[in-house]
Amino acid sequence: MPSQSDAEKSKNGAHVACIMDGNGRWAKKRGLPRTAGHTAGEENLAEVVRQAAKRNVGWLTVFGFSTENWVRPKAEVRHILALHKQLFGRIEELNANNVRVQWIGRPFDEPGSKTPLYVQKAIRQAIADTASNTGMTLTVAFDYGSRAELARAVRKSKIELFTVTKQSIEERLYLAQMPPVDVLVRTSGESRISNFLLWQINHAAVYFTQRPWPDFDADDLDAALALLDA
Ligand code: IPE
Ligand code: IPE
Ligand code: MG
Repeated sequence: MPSQSDAEKSKNGAHVACIMDGNGRWAKKRGLPRTAGHTAGEENLAEVVRQAAKRNVGWLTVFGFSTENWVRPKAEVRHILALHKQLFGRIEELNANNVRVQWIGRPFDEPGSKTPLYVQKAIRQAIADTASNTGMTLTVAFDYGSRAELARAVRKSKIELFTVTKQSIEERLYLAQMPPVDVLVRTSGESRISNFLLWQINHAAVYFTQRPWPDFDADDLDAALALLDA
């Protein structure tokens, strides 16, 4: 697939990437089960998408579930999977906001892929049903790990080109047309990257906030975007 020029990649506003952390702590503080925190986090994502779509955000990429997260308790993983069906199912809202949905993660046909069929279906449906929207692109990272993405890109480059360059890697990332991240956000007081978009955040500004993800709001979004004007 030919890669887009940098001008094409950046014409539609900033690329904001969020590591949506702290759902469990948000719930614990309220005496609720961790699953309630994930539910609140999914609802807040819907609101953040609405807010971002109103601003100069061209790309919003969010870390929903990492390749490392499968080791969490079964009931929690089941709950998070169901929430992904729900979030990819918000088609009417996404269309109303002119938002195009994408997914980034380990391909379903790769050995070791654990994504259940019903989540695969929801992802495919959301991508198809929002494909013609021309506003913001929302990319949900599900079963995503950056090192695996990079290893695969290098492997493909060697097989297809017998060589490896910066460009050959970039063109073989999971979503070659995704522009570089302008600002990386992590909520809940952690300042780790946790294997998220290691290649794409090369030149990103970073915005760390103490707020857990369910409390991340439009003011936080504005503060993160303000880093780009500094
Ligand atoms: C982020 O919240 C959601 C996922 C990683 C799926 P956490 O579940 O990591 O919440 P904390 O970090 O335990 O508070
Ligand atoms: C990163 O959060 C992954 C997501 C937000 C989906 P974690 O809570 O899993 O990260 P670590 O393990 O604390 O670094
Ligand atoms: Mg966490």
